[in-house]
Amino acid sequence: MILDIVQVGDPVLRQKCKPVTRFDGELCKLLDDMKDTLKHAEGAGLAAPQVGVPIRAVAVDVEEGYFEFINPIFVWQKGEQCGPEGCLSVRGKMGDVTRPSKVKIVFQDRKGDKYSLVARDFFARAVCHELDHLDGVLYTDKASHVRDSED
Ligand code: NI
Repeated sequence: MILDIVQVGDPVLRQKCKPVTRFDGELCKLLDDMKDTLKHAEGAGLAAPQVGVPIRAVAVDVEEGYFEFINPIFVWQKGEQCGPEGCLSVRGKMGDVTRPSKVKIVFQDRKGDKYSLVARDFFARAVCHELDHLDGVLYTDKASHVRDSED
């Protein structure tokens, strides 16, 4: 099911999201709906607060694959990259953001099993952007030269 994506100005985007403690059917349904919503919007990532649910769950859809990260935590961040970024909750805008070029995270999957992952380049950027959403941070808080985007 495709969900409405909350837009900037809604307080749910500014909350510190709560950890996921129940890996149940309700979580699976939310993650399935987030996948439908993200694919439909053709975005690189979507965080649960962007569909109005302030819990620590994100989806990332990049060249490397489609990923769901529950309760993700950075282990380390290395290097630096600066590049353009947008957000499905800030429609019609883009801005340049400096991010780490490589990050390692630990996270759980929808069953609650624990994993770690190293992401590089654009994948690392997407992970950083989505994890920021879980702490109520938008890319526009960090961006320089926020401008109108083409789409
Ligand atoms: Ni975003």
